[in-house]
Formats: sequence, structure tokens, C-alpha cells
Amino acid sequence: MQVDMDGRGPRHAQLARALRTAILGGRLRAGARLPATRNMASQLNLSRNTVLSAYEQLRVEGYLRARVGSGTYVADVAAAKPRRQSPLATEPPTRYAARARSVDFRPFKRGGEGIRWDMQVGEPMTDPALFTAWRRALARAALYADPRYPDATGLPALREALCDYLGRRRGVDAEPADVVVVSGTQQAIGLTARVLLEEGDAAGVEEPPYFGIRAALWAHGARLIPLVTDTAGLITDRLPKRAPRIICVTPANQFPSGVVMSLPRRQALLRYASANRCWIVEDDYDSEFRYDSEPLPALRSIDRDDRVIYVGTFSKTLFPALRLGYLVVPRALRRDFGAAKRIHDFGTPVIEQAAMAQFIADGSFERHIRKASATLRARRELMLEGLRAHAGEHVEVSGSHAGMHLAVWLRGFDQDRCQALVDVARAKGLALYPIAPHYLAAPRRAGLLLGYAGLSVRELEAAMQVLGECIRETAPRVTRPTQSPGPESGGSRGRGASAPRRL
Ligand SMILES: Cc1ncc(COP(=O)(O)O)c(C=O)c1O
Repeated sequence: MQVDMDGRGPRHAQLARALRTAILGGRLRAGARLPATRNMASQLNLSRNTVLSAYEQLRVEGYLRARVGSGTYVADVAAAKPRRQSPLATEPPTRYAARARSVDFRPFKRGGEGIRWDMQVGEPMTDPALFTAWRRALARAALYADPRYPDATGLPALREALCDYLGRRRGVDAEPADVVVVSGTQQAIGLTARVLLEEGDAAGVEEPPYFGIRAALWAHGARLIPLVTDTAGLITDRLPKRAPRIICVTPANQFPSGVVMSLPRRQALLRYASANRCWIVEDDYDSEFRYDSEPLPALRSIDRDDRVIYVGTFSKTLFPALRLGYLVVPRALRRDFGAAKRIHDFGTPVIEQAAMAQFIADGSFERHIRKASATLRARRELMLEGLRAHAGEHVEVSGSHAGMHLAVWLRGFDQDRCQALVDVARAKGLALYPIAPHYLAAPRRAGLLLGYAGLSVRELEAAMQVLGECIRETAPRVTRPTQSPGPESGGSRGRGASAPRRL
């Protein structure tokens, strides 16, 4: 008799699995007599006990019957129909599924095969010392963590540590009850949409918006209202007469253009929100990394009317695989955000939260930030220097004051030529990412987003040299410096991104 053991786990379990499969597949029919245990054992080179235990297991499960004195028989079990591959659904089952399917993340994917230098903006900085310290914090937290379901809004120790940290570093005056610990900005936006938006409600997003926020709101069914930006951030004079229900902004470092929202604009936005009873979502994702001056306090720090939902993340300060972030919510929304989080996942994993609380409280977090800032500053300087040396006449840089990426405008390039540059660079192992897919309406100028956190100084040196070669290869013969300081989205009067640095 043919028995195919799969080599996984104890032998008695393998034999039982093989016989069960044969019975369900119809190869062993009801009433068939199995070989005596002794014969089966010698046939398969197993011990008799192994066979006995497999037969007994199948007897208990009802696949076999043992008749005293006469042997072991296959019971009358209906052979299972062969498993049918369920068809790939062609029609989306819900409106949400339809919208989620339509989100195209391809332009934001990582470089992939054959790439030596990946300039993707989401690439984290990897510091081995950070991972050693984090591993220790996790191990300690695992020993003491309470194994029961946690408070869904977050571990009290972490919420307290966050309030202390946000007060000192971002000017945010929060108490633990205002804080909801989440699995990153993405969950924060998802919860915000559930709590505040019905399908079809208007949500204002900066043009260009951060694609994660745009995708989450779109999939939820919000109507996205693009709000134009210029070199001082959101143009508050051009906010719509009929206010959207929420307005999402990145005031500390507009993503992707790198603009800082000016204080008068911040104040105007808060006045607008108060007057129109709408909510502002402040995505404060990488404000810690600022190179020319101290970070501006958060928008929430000057919000006197409690209209700002503040969102922070550890994806930039530490690394995105953590999936850990936090919300500071207006008092009026505490209860609803707490309920939404509870329903969504019963809370964020506790060991990571406990480790993070300790990491912040004992100073490791801010020590890491200081060290990471110095490293990023050096990389940024090298990028600027490399661009100047290898492609100076072809590029203008904006948004270099903070964060982990540069927005670089290409003089004389249109979108097709920019794509040709991306293709030429890819063939040389350099992954580049055009800025255009970030816009809701195609921008008139072409440019690139260059993330520099994931590459060492030496790698960046090589990457900038290759970038220079590729730009020179693909640039139009005569390049004229353009007057406009930033990108202009189709039909907008906004002056686009921040003032460029001439290189
Ligand atoms: C504007 C912006 N917000 C937030 C994030 C982080 O999102 P998450 O916390 O979901 O990792 C990023 C990451 O690239 C970002 O660019």
C-alpha cells in the first residue's frame, strides 16, 4: 500500500495525516481493510507503536473502525470533494473594497532588484546601536508586561511619558486621557475618518498631500478637497467658503515639498477651524529632525479652541516596522476615539508599548534622536554638496531644512523627460522617485523626491555622482533657470513648494 509521509513533525502524526488524506481523497474507500500494524510497521520501516498510535488517533477521529479479532477498517466517511480554488473576485464586494482597489501604491514602492542606491522617502535610517538598545528594552518589557487585554487607548505609562515628551519638545499641553496610542499614522487617520467622516463628507488635504493620508481618506469614502500650498504652507486665504469637515496638514514639514507653515498661516487656519467648527489633523511626522533652527512648536500648542487632532509617529524617529504612533485628541472627541480604537483592535501590543514607555522615560529615545539628527545632518549636507557638484545647473532644491528627504526640481525637464531620467538611473542601479505622483492634479514642473536616510555617506556620494551623470545624459541641451520658485499644480494660483536653494 502506498503511504506518502510528508516528513513534518512526529512520525505517528505523519502517518495519521497520510492515511487521513488518502481516506478523504477517496484512495482508501469505506470498508477497506488496513494492513495489520506489524505489517504496516515493517513496510514503512516504523516501530509498531508508531503505527498503533496513528491507527488509534484515526479511530478516535472516526476515520477507522477496529473489529476485534478481524483487523482495522476504513469507516464510512464521505470522501471530501477536491478543494476548489475559490475564484478571484472580479467585482469588489463593497464600495470600500472598490475604492481600496483603486489606490495605486506602485509609484511609492521600493526600488527592488538590481538597485544599489534606493532614494525612496520611506527608507529608514538603520543604526545598529538603536536595535541593541531596543532589543534590551523589549526583553525587559516582556518580563514584566501584564498579559491581560490592555487599556485600548494605550498603556498609562506610555501615555504619561508621551505627555511629558510632547510638552517639552513640541509645546503640546496634553494629559494622558487625551492620548490614544495607535499603530502608526495610518491607523490614526483611519480612526479619525471613522469617528468624524460619513461617506461623501469633505476632507481637505494639502496639495500635494501625503499619500498615506490621501489613500486612507479616499478608501473611507471621503471627498478629497485639494488645498493649495506655497512657500509658507497652506494658503489660508484660499480655504473654501464651505469648510470641509476635517483639514489634514503637515505644518512642521509639508510632505513632500518640505515647506514650513508660517505662524500667521497657522493662526489663520486655527481661526478658520474655530469659526467653521471643523477639525484639523496635524500630522507631525518628522519635526524632530530640523537642521537650520529649532523645530517650531506644534500647531496644537497654539490651539486655544481644542480643534486640533495631533498625530505623532515613531516611524521616522525610530523605524517604521515598529508600527507605533499616537494621537492627542480634543477633549470633546476623547470618548469617540477611545471607543473606535477599542472596537478596531482592543489595543496596541503591550510589550512594545511598555518598552517604548521605558525608552522615553530613561532618556534613550531623546539620546537616539540627538545622534540620528547629527547623522542625518551630515547626510543632508553631503546630498546638497553632491547635487551642487554633479548637477548644479540642472536642479533646484526645496525643503532641505528638515526631515529625511529633499524635493529637487529639474530645470527644463517635463514629466516624460523626468521618467526617462528615472529609467536611465534604474539601469545604473539608482532608484529615483518623481514627485508628480504625489499631486492630485499633475504639477507643471518635474522633480524628484530624494530620501537620504537609508544610505550611508559613502553610498550617498556614489549615488549623487550617478544621479549627476544621469541628469546630464537626459537633460535638454539648453537649460534656462526658471523664474518660478516651486511647482505649480494645474490651474492653481498657489506658488507651489518652498523657495528653492539655487545650487
Ligand atoms: C507625511 C507622513 N506622515 C506620516 C508618516 C508615517 O506614517 P506611519 O506612522 O503610518 O508609518 C510618513 C512616513 O513616511 C509621512 O511621510
